[in-house]
Amino acid sequence: MSVFEVLTNDNGSSARRGRLQTAHGTIETPVFMPVGTRGSVKGLTPLQLKDTGSSIVLANTYHMMIRPGAEIVDALGDLHGLMGWDGPILTDSGGYQVFSLSTLNRVGDDGVEFASHIDGRKIYMDAEIATTVQNQLGADIIMCFDECTPFPAKREQIQVAVDRTIRWAEICKKTHSRDDQLLFGIVQGGVDPEMRSLCAEELIKLDFPGYAIGGLSVGEGHENMIRTTQHTAALLPSDKPRYLMGVGMPVDIVAAVHAGVDMFDCVLPTRNGRNAFAFTKNGPIRMRNSMHAQDTGPIDPDCPCYCCRNFGRGTLRHFFNVGEMLGPILVTIHNIVFYQRLMAEIRERIEAGTFSYWALESIELTNALES
Ligand code: GUN
Ligand code: ZN
Repeated sequence: MSVFEVLTNDNGSSARRGRLQTAHGTIETPVFMPVGTRGSVKGLTPLQLKDTGSSIVLANTYHMMIRPGAEIVDALGDLHGLMGWDGPILTDSGGYQVFSLSTLNRVGDDGVEFASHIDGRKIYMDAEIATTVQNQLGADIIMCFDECTPFPAKREQIQVAVDRTIRWAEICKKTHSRDDQLLFGIVQGGVDPEMRSLCAEELIKLDFPGYAIGGLSVGEGHENMIRTTQHTAALLPSDKPRYLMGVGMPVDIVAAVHAGVDMFDCVLPTRNGRNAFAFTKNGPIRMRNSMHAQDTGPIDPDCPCYCCRNFGRGTLRHFFNVGEMLGPILVTIHNIVFYQRLMAEIRERIEAGTFSYWALESIELTNALES
């Protein structure tokens, strides 16, 4: 039995409507996964998170292995027990976080030695450790240990990262010891199409149940990102889920679904929510702005979220002004609901056959709003 099923292929694009089975439930794709880096989607209870329409959450191996450590997570009933979330969870491998958050001491073909961003303690991580730790953390989907190249990068540097990412994927696959967890491969290769092709080809030989596109949203810009995503998604098996890591703005998600991507994660709805920045169809709203002081209307009158049903803009502005924690909580709820409603509309439109026209129109509209 295959864990992923494509239910509908879009006529005018590479978009698909799919379904992914995991040990803790079924995910309807295209899907957006809110980020719960340290075992919590900041500010939200799992009940509130469920109410946003979220079906799967992401957590980070890097953070959980530093604190509280994989043994303690295991003792607390794995990530599901620790988080109080009995639905699907995906853990990122730590590859990306090691390179972006910590002070690197040594990067070799075997692994990475780095200083913890908490206390400077020396930690060694490699493909085998990343996989063993993820087996212990117990997420439903786990990721290969990879090397993400910065942007811009020289071809030689991309080549080294791609070679390591391929070799490490082999080790991850050999080490992976639980058949109730899906191990996804990650395609690297910067914005170089030949490197992407080489990496995808080698990873496909290893036959993973799903494939991620990594190394994007690192400063290459929308055009480079979408071009690379289109190129890479088209190389990946059509009967396996495709996951674009760390992306992105709503317009990026629409364009990537158009290119055939099924899964997304991004800190934008949660991080921006905490910073008083609310997503709407007509662009962002800054809730701290004094223009909202006496406004009793919601962020968005058409939004069914708890925040928009119960609080006006003036109240939200006040909460942010005086530092009440309810402000960040409410706007986080609104923003995740905004993302989940976008995904629901994408799924409905693929089913109804109205996706590709709508997608191109909304991408153009966003570009027009920005220029
Ligand atoms: N999150 C965003 N980009 C990446 C990436 O390239 N690799 C990993 N492991 N996680 C990511
Ligand atoms: Zn709302």
